[in-house]
Amino acid sequence: MTARVIAIDGPAGSGKGTAARGVAEALGYAWVDTGAIYRTLALASGRQGIDWDDGEALGQLAAVLGIAFSWDGARLTVTLDGEDVSEAIRTPEMGHGASAVSRHRPVRAALLDLQRSLAADGGVVMDGRDIGTVVLPEADLKVYLVASVDERARRRADELRAKGDDVDTDAIREAIEARDTRDASRSVAPLKVARDAIVVDTTDVPPAEVVARLVGLARGDGVVGG
Ligand code: DC
Repeated sequence: MTARVIAIDGPAGSGKGTAARGVAEALGYAWVDTGAIYRTLALASGRQGIDWDDGEALGQLAAVLGIAFSWDGARLTVTLDGEDVSEAIRTPEMGHGASAVSRHRPVRAALLDLQRSLAADGGVVMDGRDIGTVVLPEADLKVYLVASVDERARRRADELRAKGDDVDTDAIREAIEARDTRDASRSVAPLKVARDAIVVDTTDVPPAEVVARLVGLARGDGVVGG
């Protein structure tokens, strides 16, 4: 039977978003980008003047965060109290902020139920850092994507260039390495490979091929007992 709940984890730039979107499209599932939740919390807290180091205040804000996702099968829209923030959260600053706010235990605890409720009906692809390990440990399929740091920096640089930003690839590589270290070394829900995850290296693999491979895994090709 095709996996109904699919968890995709991995570091920044490993191709999670592209893969999750493609798999959701192919299977007619919902796509939940959990990084967007932490990015939205970073945006909301910044607007309210809450420090990204203040775990207690951030946890309280996370508990009442007015975030909603809508996925129309092609585009993921993220709203904060009804305002479309899909673009506003995609800046390097909000990536940095998301990594900062997400390391606090009260924040992760407050957002756990929200994430689980988004997967409760099945037919969902959820991507993040701790989906297979913490959020959805019972997921039918867990994938952990990896790619070389140079490749991940190149992808981020291409994304920013496409938006018309000035790009310093060395600075992007350094920021990615710093974010990896922080996401992997935090004490709560660190970035790590779930025991039962399938590791897929996306370096030099075209996105369509990654998606095809994951859809195959979801359908049970090559999965023991799948
Ligand atoms: O995938 P992304 O770049 O949008 O994620 C932004 C940050 O959010 C990432 O550096 C760490 C944090 N994050 C997390 O801690 N847990 C998740 N499930 C998803 C993202």
